[in-house]
Amino acid sequence: MAPRWLSIALLAAVLPSCTLATPMGDHLETRASNDDPFSPPYYPAPNGGWRSNWAEAYQKAHSVVSNMTLAEKVNLTTGTGIYMGPCAGQTGSVPRFGIPNLCLHDSPLGVRNTDHNTAFPPGITVGATFDKHLMYERGVGLGEEARGKGVNVLLGPSVGPMGRKPRGGRNWEGFGFDPVLQGIGGAQTIKGMQSTGAIACLKHFIGNEQEMHRMSSVVTQGYSSNIDDRTLHEFYLWPFAEGVRAEVGSVMIAYNDLNKSACSQNSKLINGVLKDELGFQGFVVTDWLAHLGGVSSALAGLDMSMPGDGAIPLFGDSYWGPELSRSILNGTVPVERLNDMASRILAAWFKMGQDQDYPLPNFSSNTEDEKGLLYPGALFSPSGIVNQYVNVQADHDITARAVARDAITLLKNEGDLLPLRRNDSLKIFGTDAGSDPKGLNSCADKGCNRGVLTMGWGSGTSKLPYLITPQEAIANISSMAEFYITDSFPSSVEASSDDIAVVFINSDSGENFITVDGNPGDRTASGLHAWHNGDDLVKAAANRFSQVVVVIHTVGPIILEEWIDLDPVKAVLIAHLPGQEAGYSLTDVLFGAHSPSGHLPYTIPYQESNYPSSVGVLQQPFGQIQDPYTEGIYIDYRHFLKEGIKPRYPFGHGLSYTSFEFSNPSISILTPLNSAYPPSRPSKGPTPSYPTTIPPASEVAWPKNLNRIWRYLYPYLDNPESAAAVANSSKTYPYPDGYSTDPKPPPRAGGAEGGNPALWDIAFSVQVTVTNTGRRPGRAVAQLYVDLPDSLGLDTPSRQLRQFEKTKMLGPGESETLTLDVTRKDVSVWDVVVQDWKAAVAGEGVRVYVGESVLDLRVDCEVGGRCSTL
Ligand code: NOJ
Repeated sequence: MAPRWLSIALLAAVLPSCTLATPMGDHLETRASNDDPFSPPYYPAPNGGWRSNWAEAYQKAHSVVSNMTLAEKVNLTTGTGIYMGPCAGQTGSVPRFGIPNLCLHDSPLGVRNTDHNTAFPPGITVGATFDKHLMYERGVGLGEEARGKGVNVLLGPSVGPMGRKPRGGRNWEGFGFDPVLQGIGGAQTIKGMQSTGAIACLKHFIGNEQEMHRMSSVVTQGYSSNIDDRTLHEFYLWPFAEGVRAEVGSVMIAYNDLNKSACSQNSKLINGVLKDELGFQGFVVTDWLAHLGGVSSALAGLDMSMPGDGAIPLFGDSYWGPELSRSILNGTVPVERLNDMASRILAAWFKMGQDQDYPLPNFSSNTEDEKGLLYPGALFSPSGIVNQYVNVQADHDITARAVARDAITLLKNEGDLLPLRRNDSLKIFGTDAGSDPKGLNSCADKGCNRGVLTMGWGSGTSKLPYLITPQEAIANISSMAEFYITDSFPSSVEASSDDIAVVFINSDSGENFITVDGNPGDRTASGLHAWHNGDDLVKAAANRFSQVVVVIHTVGPIILEEWIDLDPVKAVLIAHLPGQEAGYSLTDVLFGAHSPSGHLPYTIPYQESNYPSSVGVLQQPFGQIQDPYTEGIYIDYRHFLKEGIKPRYPFGHGLSYTSFEFSNPSISILTPLNSAYPPSRPSKGPTPSYPTTIPPASEVAWPKNLNRIWRYLYPYLDNPESAAAVANSSKTYPYPDGYSTDPKPPPRAGGAEGGNPALWDIAFSVQVTVTNTGRRPGRAVAQLYVDLPDSLGLDTPSRQLRQFEKTKMLGPGESETLTLDVTRKDVSVWDVVVQDWKAAVAGEGVRVYVGESVLDLRVDCEVGGRCSTL
């Protein structure tokens, strides 16, 4: 594959290495052999503020930052410490300029650990809708709830992990196993969220594809995702570029290393790729406790440390906070870097209008009580009213239900057994149809799998404000349903030939800090099989009943082989993870008020061994795990196509109660691709300028009369003068290899947020008429795949999703003409030598397909030629 741009940045030690000027715990970079992954230095950090759409926000930031003291600037960059406030993390405040402690809080599906919120369906369900409008609307709902609770930065959406590892614990937080589906899902969510004034946080940047061994600490080192340049650009970076293009306000750095350099201090990744090439204008924040070094991370482009703590949480120390103050005073970190950090944070705040009437947090994620400790992490904390129980739900249940419903994916429906009729005699099996016997939200962060599975577990959750279970929803519609809410098939159950058995099974996963039934986040114990002996339950039902419907709630791919071909198993629905609207979203489809219109956001294989061997979850007791991405861009369907492996159900598959015909396809050229590489990038505009003199040490002296909270993180130093004195000494700081303060020439692939704007020129546009040819109303999804020509000189997947559109509800006989736009970037490969996107000139040789799944193609177009129906 591609030559490597990423250097040998072997982290010599996890523990703080010796630094002359500061004790800030930097990693030393040393060179290993040339065969090692490589993460080259990229310095200095590019300043934000050169994009016209951010100009006003940066001007406002500039007028404030210019007048801030050193302590005030540092306060913006560093969290106050874990459990030192109501949110997952909060920055220090700058009262002089009306800037409160900024609240950063989970999750990508709703405000976490609070009340009177909406528990929306998670990303994987959103992806399965293939509905851009719903993606956006859910984002609006998320943003409104964040704002209503006083969350400044809502920690989502998640577009990494990307599903490289089918067992990976957090794939369900993102939108599917494809960069374009993730990219569109993420961008629509960001636009919706930020339209409300909440700042979105795109995460986890990058290569956080498994949960186990993700973190570095004083005793262990997180794995290194070793990703070559082309794979990075064409696959893992793609959705981040789309999110940056959507003007996301913040990006969260992943725990793991990329090419042997921790993401939180990987200068090539943050300075080079994110800030220079993608032109990111917002701020970069660590994942929680992912901060590993003070000076190294500052120089590498990190802007905010969350929750602020150093190597050992709750000890009251930090790699930044007072240490960042010290490193500015002693001249190690250039003042310019701190000014840029503060400008980026404040520019995002101003851009979203948070200076105008944005609520303060009115909830506490630490307790449900009305009164509680203000700083539970402190030994002695003042207390006060911490929960005001503000109801932020509005009518978001409508969107939540629409997403859950329009995601439901019908895998098979023999003899049109579905939809059910109200007077069908139903026997319902499985605990996944019912409620949690221990009560709603009985497990913290959903760290158990009891009752219907509404979401995975971990920080990507929120509490269910209520839950309509499938059992309740079915009982409300059918008086002919009997319920057996058990996972062991009741031997006494009677079956008559008219009976329809509906069997509920599920598969769960989550974040690594909780282990559920032997699964430490990743599905190591369960594999891709149904939990709670779900396969046996289906088989037992199929043994007794002649008509069986299987409903599956799952975090991702699940193996169906033990029963999918049994004769009685007529219908199978994947209901993904439905959130609070589990019941009615399902009955909307089960009983035919809506035709299913969801499509698989991943492939379902026959067996796990169908995946490349390189995508298993890695475990290793000692030493750093090296995870080479040897399969390159051949993830999910790309791999199955390449290897000629038939999937059980292909990516994009999803049946309806009706049928659709694709007709009258045409392709038109909009922006001729006259050259292989895009036209030259726009030049960079100016960025705010500030004095670069080191501020007086007195600016970080402890203020008199400060009522200090023990272990709370402040920016102040006991003896600031001595820190400043080092600046004038002969001691020098061992800057990383390649450290420089001379700005690099702007990368040719950059030029705007996301990259060179010409990459998004619409090269051509495909139109196709979709007609409902069946007898029921329904919605179709048109998925556009490209096959790039050999003339590009690289091996490319035979199909790559590049666009999709969903019809409105079409009545029988009704048609809609859809337009699917294809950009220059969509028909390009990443040229690792030129460091730019290379397209097929004039689109020559590009084939474009439109269909209902990657294997159900209905339209074939040749660029510059004709289209035909297949
Ligand atoms: C760690 C998770 O990886 C991240 O997604 C989350 O936002 C933070 N914890 C804060 O809870």
